[in-house]
Order: sequence, then C-alpha cells, then structure tokens
Amino acid sequence: MKLKKIALAVGGFALAISLAACGGSGAGGTATTAATGGDATQASQAPADVTIGVAMPTQTSERWIADGDAVKKGLEEAGYKVDLQFGNDDIPTQTQQIDQMITQGEKLLIIASIDGTALTSQLENAAKNGIKVIAYDRLINNSANVDFYVTFDNYKVGVAQANALLTGLGLTERDGTKKADAPKGPLNIEIFAGSPDDNNAKFFFNGAMDTLKPYLDDGTLVVKSGQTDFEKVAIMRWSQEGAQKRMEDLLTSTYGGGKEPLAGVLSPFDGISRGIITALQPKYGTTMADGLPVVTGQDAEVASVKLINDGVQSSTIFKDTRTLAAQAVTVAKAYLAGQEPEANDTTTYDNGVKVVPSYLLDIVTIFKDDIKKELIDSGYYTQAEVDAGVAS
Ligand code: GAL
Repeated sequence: MKLKKIALAVGGFALAISLAACGGSGAGGTATTAATGGDATQASQAPADVTIGVAMPTQTSERWIADGDAVKKGLEEAGYKVDLQFGNDDIPTQTQQIDQMITQGEKLLIIASIDGTALTSQLENAAKNGIKVIAYDRLINNSANVDFYVTFDNYKVGVAQANALLTGLGLTERDGTKKADAPKGPLNIEIFAGSPDDNNAKFFFNGAMDTLKPYLDDGTLVVKSGQTDFEKVAIMRWSQEGAQKRMEDLLTSTYGGGKEPLAGVLSPFDGISRGIITALQPKYGTTMADGLPVVTGQDAEVASVKLINDGVQSSTIFKDTRTLAAQAVTVAKAYLAGQEPEANDTTTYDNGVKVVPSYLLDIVTIFKDDIKKELIDSGYYTQAEVDAGVAS
C-alpha cells in the first residue's frame, strides 16, 4: 500500500483540548502536546486515546448490524475506542448522533448515511474540527468534507443483478453467453429500484438497465406495466412493506390480479425481494418450481439465503461486510496515523462538489449452488443459520 504523509488541521486539537479539560471522551493528553507546539498530526495519539464514531443507518436490516459489528470489532482490535450508533432510518436521529460524535471529540467518523444529501452541516463541522470522514458503502453528496469512500462496485452490482435475472429466466448461462435453448419470449418482467435518496440506488439501476436493454429492445423481455423510470420504480428507504405494496398494486393494475404470466422481477435488495415475494406467492406459487417468478436480490441477508436454498428467491449479490469493514478500518488507521489511504478509484464517485477518492470491492453472485462455497465454507454463515434463516 502506498502511503503519503499528510498534515491534519490544528482545529481538531483545539477542540480536543477543551474536551480534555472537561473530561470528554477520546481527547487524550497527546493532543494537548500537539497543540502546544508538538507535531500537529494525529499520528501522535495512542489508539487507546482515540474514539471513532461509527454511524449506521438502521437495525431493521441485518446487513447493517453485521457491518456495524464488523467495523467495531476491527477498530477495537486495532486498539481504538468505538462509538457505534444506528439511526433507525430516521434522518434527524442520524444527524443528532453525528453532531454528538463531533462534540464528544471523536477523532474520525465512519458514516453509512440514511439520506446522502442530509449531512452537509454536520460534515462542515467535522472538517472545522479536523475530523476525517469516511463514507461507508453509501456516498455522502453535496459536501466537500467527505474524505474517502469505501464501497463495492455499485454499477457492477446492478450488472450482476440483471445478469442473475437473465440466468434465472433461462436466457443466459452464468458467464453471460446466450443459452441455445433460451425461451423466445416475450417474457413479462417488472423492475424495482432502491431508495431515491441513496446514491447507490441509481448506480444499481443503471447497471441493471444497461444490461437488460438489448433484451427489452428486441422484445425478449417486456415490462408489462410500462414502469421503467427510476422515479417510478424506486422504493423509499428500501422498505420491504413499500415493495410488497407496489408489487400488489402492479398485480392488480397489470396482471389481472395475478392471472397473467409474470416471469421475473428485478429487485435491488433482499428486503425488497422478500416484500415482492410475499405479494407474489398467493398468486403464483410458493416456490419457483410451483410457478413463483424469478426474483433477484442483494446483500445475501440470511433470511433471503434461506429462501434461495428453499427455491423461493432466485439469487442475491453477496457483498462481504467483513471485507468492507476491514477496508474501512484500513482507511481509518491510515488517516489516524497521518497518512493518505490508498484509493483504487478516483474518477467515478462525484458527490456534486468533488470526486471522492474511493476503494471499490468485488461482489459475488449467489444462486442456490453457490451458498455452500461462498457463504458457509467462507464462514459468513453456518449451515444452521442458513437452515433457520436467522443469524445467531
Ligand atoms: C444500499 C446498499 C445495499 C443495501 C441497501 C439497503 O445503500 O448498498 O447493499 O444494503 O442499501 O440497505
């Protein structure tokens, strides 16, 4: 890894001194030394004197609990103190949590935002106090004060979701080549996208739609509802209930209450997939073998992995939260040692104010046959967890 020395703003140490004076957490004696003429980098602080704020969006989705736990564990193993907060999918709750992390003198923030445009003033305040900000999985928009972004390749996730739909429908092999005995179509499908306030949702959607385009253009696939605009198909806050409701409405408006054929549904996230499946099952069958349409997903949430294992959900995209958490920890350690973290993408993620240096990780598509190798043998889940559909 290439590391460059950087000097951090002295402002953060001024805050640290005032907090040290009143006993605030994370403000160590070294900061005082720095502010009284020592080396003004955070490199001088022992990890045990540093608290890192970790703001996760919600506990309603198991992936963010796993992310939060993995980041906390990694930082604690490196010797840091960690203040882990979950925002209950409520923007004011998350902004308050971040405000508090700053006033408590925490030295670095790792944030998976609820609304990627709602944190401008918090981040301005963080910058004034010399606090580095790492956007975790979701980019924070409209702010110059996002220092780094760790994520998966979000466009590729969308491509993988569309390819998984095509494979699930029997149109392509796993490697993307057309199947000789592919159904001629037209096959009816419907499209779902993620939360419009999450920067990732558009990347997933664009990757998927670019991949499906040739099949839509030549009529192999038909979106029978005609709803293909992002704004029309997006599900606010990635809500399972919102997805179930939209799918039920589509069945009523377009599929004769479930009597018309529907071959597949592009879903961007396992929670949304489960909402869609709940709406479809009473009309089409309990499993794909019974006639349930092919439904994609993302995150390899254990409840959906069980559904895949049971032949209910077709696929998901595995984003290994252990790897993402480890990457966030690597970046945090670099900043706190006064160094510049390594990016592997410095062109893609423009947040409206600047291009944020990013580290993108790889993803894995999961069908039933992949569960053992990718999720169980890798130690992500136990067989018992997959069988139960619940992480212990
Ligand atoms: C996105 C994330 C997805 C999924 C979704 C809903 O930001 O990239 O992996 O978790 O949120 O939580």
